Amino acid sequence: MEFKFDWDKNASKIEELKKVIDEKKQLKGSLMPVLHKAQKIFGYLPIEVQKIISEELNVPLAEIYGVATFYSQFSLIPKGDYTIGVCLGTACYVKGAQDIIDEIKKEINVEVGGTTKDRKFSLVATRCIGACGLAPVMTINEDVYGKLKTGEAKDILKKY
Ligand code: FES
Repeated sequence: MEFKFDWDKNASKIEELKKVIDEKKQLKGSLMPVLHKAQKIFGYLPIEVQKIISEELNVPLAEIYGVATFYSQFSLIPKGDYTIGVCLGTACYVKGAQDIIDEIKKEINVEVGGTTKDRKFSLVATRCIGACGLAPVMTINEDVYGKLKTGEAKDILKKY
């Protein structure tokens, strides 16, 4: 899914990022803190932002891309208003979590790790969230739904 980066709308954020880079530029190991800050400012790390960081810090884009894709705290696409997490821990998995994921993918037309075009939902697969007694478990932001049966996830999404 392609999300277009709006340069005009992001102008003040870019300024903010450049200030951060100026402050950290001279420090050793400034890449991680700058990426963290950029993720905070923009909510994700689009390639356009990675390019700015690459130029300003004089670090190859490939290296930045490598770091941004390696660490799960960074995201290359914007997050939706609601993040749907489906637990793929062992207990949830054996109780059919994969079917729930498939059902959601179909319902909102998005892949795991993706965000819907309207930026309403993001779908992620999570590790055990410690609610195995409720397996299979789905979360939507702070809300937790357990003991899900086929077809239920779809109806729950309609509430959002
Ligand atoms: S395995 Fe899903 S909550 Fe523990």
